[in-house]
Amino acid sequence: MQSYTVQPAKSVKGEIAVPGDKSISHRSIMLGSLAEGVTTVRGFLRGEDNLATLNAFRLMGIAVHDDGEVLRIEGKGLHGLAEPSDVVDCGNSGTSIRLLTGLLAGQRFFSVLTGDQYLRKRPMKRVVEPLSRMGADIRGREGGSKAPLAIIGRELAGTSYASPVASAQVKSAILLAGLYAVGETTVTEPHLSRDHSERMLRYFGADITPFDGGVTVRGGRNLRGDEIAVPGDISSAAFFMVAGLIVPGSELLIKGVGVNPTRTGIIDILQGMGGSLELLNEREVSGEPVADILVKSSRLKGIEIGGEVVPRAIDEFPVIAVAAALAEGRTVVRDAKELRVKETDRIAAMAQNLRAAGADVAETEDGMEINGVERLQGCSVDSFGDHRIAMSMLIGGLAATGPITVSDTECIATSFPNFIALLEQVAAR
Ligand code: S3P
Repeated sequence: MQSYTVQPAKSVKGEIAVPGDKSISHRSIMLGSLAEGVTTVRGFLRGEDNLATLNAFRLMGIAVHDDGEVLRIEGKGLHGLAEPSDVVDCGNSGTSIRLLTGLLAGQRFFSVLTGDQYLRKRPMKRVVEPLSRMGADIRGREGGSKAPLAIIGRELAGTSYASPVASAQVKSAILLAGLYAVGETTVTEPHLSRDHSERMLRYFGADITPFDGGVTVRGGRNLRGDEIAVPGDISSAAFFMVAGLIVPGSELLIKGVGVNPTRTGIIDILQGMGGSLELLNEREVSGEPVADILVKSSRLKGIEIGGEVVPRAIDEFPVIAVAAALAEGRTVVRDAKELRVKETDRIAAMAQNLRAAGADVAETEDGMEINGVERLQGCSVDSFGDHRIAMSMLIGGLAATGPITVSDTECIATSFPNFIALLEQVAAR
């Protein structure tokens, strides 16, 4: 098992670009495969999660060429996938398994999806249940609520589904099934979750109509392949935003970051804490807004976080907890129960790890309460097999009084393979 020890830094400085957006990379493979003609993808994230999606489509007969820079996907149209000859392994990736479940429900073949020990514990009923209402035949462990999932492809009918959770994975699974369904499929959600599926479906020519509170797709319309440039992942940039803020004397420019408004909760939250973050050179690329982000170290203060911003920052709470642990005063996170069913229980994991680093953190059912301390201390903690827990604690280590060691750091490769190299590149000692 790999571990990594990070030494405290005097400052973080420089200009970096983070790897491509994980959510957009998944969707580029999926929609590129279902489209007619060729799709090219620049900036594709070659993390393990996305490679799991790529392998799944290769297993279903899609040719994907990778010259190391651009991916070239030879789309075969909505009905061009072939029955996979083996179980499809989604690894650690919730996005792969949930979106594929929706996409495969309306095929004319049988498929089985599974994943690693963490993914097999995560809730699947949230997609199986609404898909079953559309006529899908999906079986799984624990009454269809856990992977492996066996999907017997069938004809689907459109539905109108009010999702109880603001989840882009649930919404996207239903929309992908909706491409195959007879009639219209509508999903509403309590707050808007990331809308990359909607944007890319529109970009590829799907019959899709977002409205206030939801989105409708009409089945049967063919998609056409196109060129996609994947922006830098704001969820990866978030680690360096927090590093730049909490290490005194820092200034960091993070270039080419996706700033889709359904993802910029991290910027709103850190600015609300008094963080100096500036968006420069704002532009639009392949239907997605992009900017450079300039970060300067700041004296942070505690705030209250809840409501609509939560899904807009859902993957950033581990690193927000690090920022809050070093802010002046109290930070309260509410409405974030979803954190308990991520790659690990991120509320429990961060509370335990930050306490080991000398922070004052209390868990609540749907969030946490953090009273800021002056400095974090050196310690040894575990990643719990969760990439974002590992990276958050290593960022905390840059601003600690002594080294922080994180064990089981292989998981970082699921979303950010060059994270440690970039961290060492910007850390001045
Ligand atoms: C994702 C959606 C989010 C997020 C995950 C990626 C996606 O999950 O946590 O990392 O690409 O759709 P939920 O939609 O379940 O909140």
